[in-house]
Amino acid sequence: MNLHGRHFLKELDFTAAEWQYLIELARELKRERATGMERQRLIGKSIALIFEKTSTRTRCAFEVGAHEQGAYTTYLDPTSSQLGHKESVADTARVLGRMFHGIEYRGFGQQRVEELAAYAGVPVWNGLTDEWHPTQMLADQLTMLEHSPGKTLADIKLAYVGDARSNVGNSVLISGALMGMEVRIISPAELQPSPQVLDAATRLTGDNTAELHISDDLEAVSGVDFIYTDVWVSMGEPKELWRERLELLRPYQVNAALLRRSGNPDIKVLHCLPAYHDLDTEIGRQLHAETGMNEFEIAHDVFERHADIIFAQAENRMHTIKAVMVATLEDVPPSVSE
Ligand code: CP
Ligand code: NVA
Repeated sequence: MNLHGRHFLKELDFTAAEWQYLIELARELKRERATGMERQRLIGKSIALIFEKTSTRTRCAFEVGAHEQGAYTTYLDPTSSQLGHKESVADTARVLGRMFHGIEYRGFGQQRVEELAAYAGVPVWNGLTDEWHPTQMLADQLTMLEHSPGKTLADIKLAYVGDARSNVGNSVLISGALMGMEVRIISPAELQPSPQVLDAATRLTGDNTAELHISDDLEAVSGVDFIYTDVWVSMGEPKELWRERLELLRPYQVNAALLRRSGNPDIKVLHCLPAYHDLDTEIGRQLHAETGMNEFEIAHDVFERHADIIFAQAENRMHTIKAVMVATLEDVPPSVSE
């Protein structure tokens, strides 16, 4: 497998074999690190990290992953570069492409990261856009595999409950379809996947084992292995949307009653984080003042009971993002044992 020089912009740009290779490479890099045997494959490489939205996990995963592989990073926050305000995306891409070996971009419309990639001349990686969150999906699938001994992704049934039109909702559907999973999207009609995303996902299932179900009925969690949720209002969306989303999504909270509906005593819960599961955040407290609710997309007791896997997901952001950087930048592509 050779992904040298490739961009990492969205799941739809990859074959199942390429995607699987990235997961296996992440597993290998994680093993190497855990045994103190990590070999640095990115010595002398320079990496630009553009963040037009805030981040904890993604930024740290790129910075630590790059550092551990011997690369240097420059972080550009939403206010400290000219991008978009005084300089076009195309011009910024051509500048950074002459200085850096790879560029990460987190921001708004997908067309910005696509344009960056078109002009940069070096690999560009999507660290989250309004439409897609592909590095998150590698981490989530690695986590599901690690918690499903003896299974492949094609054996796993995943329910995504909540705002299914978010970047994470879109990416769960497409990456699950790509890898032959059974994916059930459970969401009120207003927040179900757009026809374009659903069509793209359905096309992927043509030659694999994937099964896709879209429903507003919570009974659809019956028999699944994993339940996944994300915040009800995403970065970049107006905060006025909270009122409408709370009304629509309150019944879709991931709580003990929903887990019981799965009928699976071994049910596991995923969350990409950050999560609103208590009042220890500013937004949580504001929403509490307006609605009286103490927990939002996920109940606090469920979050804490499943904290091990949720934080394993967060850790896996680092191993998988490291794999994306290594696979696309290393001159000799690493082979991995399946
Ligand atoms: N899951 C995720 O992307 O987290 P950050 O927003 O902290 O990067
Ligand atoms: N849908 C969320 C994901 C955060 C990682 C957002 O875009 O804010």
